[in-house]
Amino acid sequence: GRIPRRDVLAGLAGMAVTGMAAPFILKNGLSEPAKAAIPFVYPTAPQPPADASVVDVTLTAKFRTRQMLPAPAGLSQIAGYDDKPEMMMIRLKQGQWLRAKLVNQLSEHTSVHWHGIRLPNAMDGVPYMTQPPVQPGENFTYAFRPPDTGTFFFHPHCNTVEQYGRGLVGTLIVEGDEKRPSDADVICAYRDWRLKPDGSFDALMTEKGAATAGTFGQVATMNGQPLPLRREVPANGDTRLRLLNLDLTRILEIGVEGAEAWVIATDGNAIDPVKLDSWKIGPAMRLDLLLRMPRQAGATVRVFNYFSPQPILLAELTAGKTQLDKPPFTPDLLKPANLREPKLDGAQQLPMRLSAASSQSATAPEVKLPDGEVLRIADALCLTPHTFWAINGQAWPAQGHDVLPPPLFKLAKGRSYVFEVANVTPRVHPIHLHGHTFKVLDSDRNTVVPHFADTTLVFPKERLRIAFVADNPGDWMVHCHIIEHQETGMMGFFRVA
Ligand code: C2O
Ligand code: CU
Repeated sequence: GRIPRRDVLAGLAGMAVTGMAAPFILKNGLSEPAKAAIPFVYPTAPQPPADASVVDVTLTAKFRTRQMLPAPAGLSQIAGYDDKPEMMMIRLKQGQWLRAKLVNQLSEHTSVHWHGIRLPNAMDGVPYMTQPPVQPGENFTYAFRPPDTGTFFFHPHCNTVEQYGRGLVGTLIVEGDEKRPSDADVICAYRDWRLKPDGSFDALMTEKGAATAGTFGQVATMNGQPLPLRREVPANGDTRLRLLNLDLTRILEIGVEGAEAWVIATDGNAIDPVKLDSWKIGPAMRLDLLLRMPRQAGATVRVFNYFSPQPILLAELTAGKTQLDKPPFTPDLLKPANLREPKLDGAQQLPMRLSAASSQSATAPEVKLPDGEVLRIADALCLTPHTFWAINGQAWPAQGHDVLPPPLFKLAKGRSYVFEVANVTPRVHPIHLHGHTFKVLDSDRNTVVPHFADTTLVFPKERLRIAFVADNPGDWMVHCHIIEHQETGMMGFFRVA
């Protein structure tokens, strides 16, 4: 956990760090460093071989006019990757490559991060860290073969409150995990929008929100449409629900009425099915459920969010007229997740402390090291004007990624690690690691069903232990997925080499 001082200094020297995947960059007064002046070495990744099965998509990031609220409310200017009224939805089969051409028609740089996919570092979509920022008018092609099946999504990784908040997000499903086909497969991607009654956007980030639980939207949607999602599915059939919490802020507590539902995957990773009572999913988390529909045509099954003063109906499934003839229900739909179990015996334990930023850091350009030492660093390396949060005492030094702090952790490739995540703030934080899938082991406050995840909620005063094999080389972000927290300090990166 301790960051040697020389790393900070090397970071300040910036260009002195050569031969590494991502040398530190100093902000030099430019809003974006002049590209040619920076000897920046980005990682590379293999291209699909000639005989590969490739799914090609184009993501055109641009503003689009849409009626988000019923008339007479005005139109909204939302940002989207395509023109469909829902968000963009991509499906692949296990073994296929995705080749996604991002076309930037915004007025600022953007990128695409493929959340939860264990892909090569070069495809991770973090500007300045894993790739050059994609400037307005430019494009960038991502190509990778997802190693895991499951329910994933993608979003920009820069100015994220604005870009994601205005609509840039989509779902990515990798099929091939079912031992027998389900009879219906329903995507339920939840998100709120910050819209005023006239259809225009409200402030996406507020100081009060960023410093507390986040700034909540006023208009709730499922797959980009008003709640609830309604779908007819076969009577007596097995329905798979893929719930994605794609909100930037809100925590959902999922419950189902009208049928017995089973949790079959967390963040896309199969688990031994657990009967659903209710399950909390924070921003970026996914939950796959399986349920057997009632036999009578017209019977309904309802999905609720209980994490609110009144339960909120998210989705309603209705049994259709054709009744399927099925053997008795069993929830064991999925093949086991193909992930390496971390070796807990002898794994290094690393503390990861989620805290408020030190009070000085909001005003002075300082970095506080985990051992308490405070470094005053060059004026050029300015903290964002709003810094509220930190990981191991270190706040991300800017809103974007063009100023990189030293890594929070340096991990040896192939070794198992246990992160002891301690939340000493009064807020819940959904913590996300890039490039790796971890196992949520246990908690000193809450009952944990051990499961694989890429994002996990850490409650106030909780100590949660997660473990993983650091098997994917590169520099990987770790951050809170309440995007306002991410962009006001609760972000860092770890290096696997
Ligand atoms: Cu979906 Cu860095 O996150
Ligand atoms: Cu947070």
